[in-house]
This record gives sequence, structure tokens and C-alpha cells, in this order.
Amino acid sequence: MWSSVRSFLLSLVVARSVVAELSFIATARQGNTVVKISDSDFVPTVPRRHRNHGPPSNTTVSTNTTMSRRSDPVSYSGNWCGASQHSTSADQITNIFGYFTVPDLTLRKGIAAPQFAAAWLGIDGASCRKSLLQAGVTTVVNSNGGQSASAWWEWYPEASYTIKGLPVKPGEWVSVNVTASSTTAGKIIITNVNQGYSMSINITNGPALCRTDAEWVVEDFYDADGQVAFASFSDIWFEETVATTVRKNKLTLKNATMVALKNDTGVVTCMSERYDDTNFVAWAV
Ligand SMILES: *[C@@H]1O[C@H](CO)[C@@H](O)[C@H](O)[C@H]1NC(C)=O
Ligand SMILES: *[C@@H]1O[C@H](CO)[C@@H](O)[C@H](O)[C@H]1NC(C)=O
Ligand SMILES: *[C@@H]1O[C@H](CO)[C@@H](O)[C@H](O)[C@H]1NC(C)=O
Ligand SMILES: *[C@@H]1O[C@H](CO)[C@@H](O)[C@H](O)[C@H]1NC(C)=O
Ligand SMILES: *[C@@H]1O[C@H](CO)[C@@H](O)[C@H](O)[C@H]1NC(C)=O
Ligand SMILES: *[C@@H]1O[C@H](CO)[C@@H](O)[C@H](O)[C@H]1NC(C)=O
Repeated sequence: MWSSVRSFLLSLVVARSVVAELSFIATARQGNTVVKISDSDFVPTVPRRHRNHGPPSNTTVSTNTTMSRRSDPVSYSGNWCGASQHSTSADQITNIFGYFTVPDLTLRKGIAAPQFAAAWLGIDGASCRKSLLQAGVTTVVNSNGGQSASAWWEWYPEASYTIKGLPVKPGEWVSVNVTASSTTAGKIIITNVNQGYSMSINITNGPALCRTDAEWVVEDFYDADGQVAFASFSDIWFEETVATTVRKNKLTLKNATMVALKNDTGVVTCMSERYDDTNFVAWAV
């Protein structure tokens, strides 16, 4: 499963970057072997493309979907669907983890291409809106149905970085492990599970987090021109989802808020539902 070790990449190189206001240091691995990366593996994206625009409404509806899925109350957001957990400032969130699939997109009828969907997880951005430490993947589908996907990380409100050194394809599994060791220092490990590649990024001077929200998200994000056209996609599963707090409490999907995306014209375009306490699925409507 951990395919083709690329021997031409076996030398140790660590990239250091100081771009915008963030300093970070990154290491790439295949399996347990450190592989070469360079500064060009990280491309800052301005304007910011990936962010969470605040908490969902507190409206709840009952969902009624297929047999294997539970029926939970859900809240609506204007730009994301998924699951959201919270902790208090007395017991802040230090880590969030999960596996998910790179969105595998098809064109949504009646809206223009290109169309997009991003999947990610992160700390803050829901009730704490000033900052958000996150990493994930974005897929775009063009008018001919062709797709391309990229991995990225972002410490909002700083720029997002495309991780060119970590190739991803629609349908592949990634894991993302985000640690906020303090409110301003963090570490992101994003792994392409299918290919066995992993990128680890340590950031030392991020904009202060609250460390009170954890979320697992499929997003109809904003770019410079506004909200992007949201593609259709097959089920995106999030698995082994867990967030950990300073006091070592584990926040799973138990009592998480499940969020559906209702866009500005009032159309629900994405729903999510728990399968159990650490697995849920999001799907395009
Ligand atoms: C990131 O920080 C952790 C803990 O401080 C350290 O073990 C690891 O080596 C660091 N990684 C990089 C790429 O600097
Ligand atoms: C939830 O919505 C109701 C009705 O719109 C409102 O009165 C209430 O303050 C809201 N509660 C929260 C926590 O936002
Ligand atoms: C859920 O949907 C099924 C099939 O449409 C229906 O028979 C059932 O009554 C629904 N359950 C609820 C709680 O609405
Ligand atoms: C996430 O990363 C942290 C820090 O590197 C590590 O201690 C933890 O075991 C990782 N979690 C998982 C589920 O891999
Ligand atoms: C979930 O929420 C309910 C109602 O607020 C509460 O009674 C219950 O203890 C909570 N369960 C967990 C595991 O937090
Ligand atoms: C909302 O989704 C519907 C269905 O795809 C689409 O026709 C409409 O243009 C969307 N509205 C916005 C504001 O994105």
C-alpha cells in the first residue's frame, strides 16, 4: 500500500520559509524516510481562499436520510457543511485529527464551471472568528469534467499556502493532524495515505487562536470574486475524528453540531450526518 519509494528523493532537505508574516519550517516524509522538499513546495495564495465564515445558525431541522446514517438535528451554514465541536477557554483545544477523502467532483447542473469543493479540518473559525488554523484539500472540476486537486494549509487571517510538494488526487485518503501547542504556535501534519507521503509544518508565530472550536468541513469557499461555484460530489467520509483538549478530554462527534450548507439562494447543497461517534459523511444535494 505504501507504494514506490522514490530513491531520488532520499536526501534530507528541510525548507524554511518566511513569507507574509508567518514563519514555518517543513519536513516531508515518505513512510518513515525524510524526503527532499524546497521552498517552491509552498506557494502562498493571496487573496485568502479558504476560510470559515463563522458559526452556523442555531436553526435545527431533522434530517431523514438513508438507512446506515443516523438521524441528527443539523444547523445551517451559508458556506460549509460538516461537524463542529466546542470547548471552553478553561479547557482549550490542542489538537484536531481526522481522515477524509479528497473531494471527487462532478459538475453541478445549471451553474457555470469551473466548480469547486474544499475539505479540511481546523481549530477555531466558528464561534472564535478572529483566527483559524486549518489544512485540507481543494478540488476543481472544469467544464469538460476534468479535475485537479491540491493540498493547502492556512493560519487565517494570514495567506493560504498550496502544498505543491504533497500531490493529491480526487478520491485519495488524506489525514490531517493539527496541533496548537499554544495559541500562537502550531504544527500541521498532512498525509496522503494512498501514496504514503506526509508533510509536516511547524509554525511559530501565528495570529492568536482562542482554541475553543474544532471543525471538520466541506466548504463552498470564497475567493476574490466571491463564493465559488459549488460542485457536486459523491460521499465524503470523515473518519476517526477527534479533538483533544489541554485537560486531555476527547471531543468526538458525540454532541457535535452537524452542519448543512444552505446557500444564499436558500438551496441546501450539502448535508452531513454522523455514522457513529468518530465517523460522519457529507454529501452533495
Ligand atoms: C516540530 O515541532 C515538534 C515539537 O516541537 C518537533 O518534534 C519537530 O521536530 C518539529 N518539526 C519540524 C519540521 O521542525
Ligand atoms: C437562537 O435563535 C433564536 C431565534 O432566532 C434566538 O432568539 C436565540 O437568541 C438564538 N440563540 C443563540 C444561542 O444564538
Ligand atoms: C423517513 O423517510 C422514510 C422514507 O421516505 C419515511 O417512511 C419515514 O417516515 C421518515 N421518517 C421520519 C422520522 O420522518
Ligand atoms: C498528531 O500529532 C501530534 C503531534 O505531532 C502527535 O502527538 C499525535 O499522536 C498525532 N495524532 C495522531 C492521531 O496521529
Ligand atoms: C450531550 O448533551 C446533552 C444535552 O445538552 C447532555 O445532557 C449530555 O451530557 C451531553 N453528552 C456528552 C457526552 O457531552
Ligand atoms: C445555490 O444552489 C443552487 C443549486 O445548485 C444554484 O442554482 C444557485 O445558483 C446557488 N446560489 C448561490 C448564491 O450560490
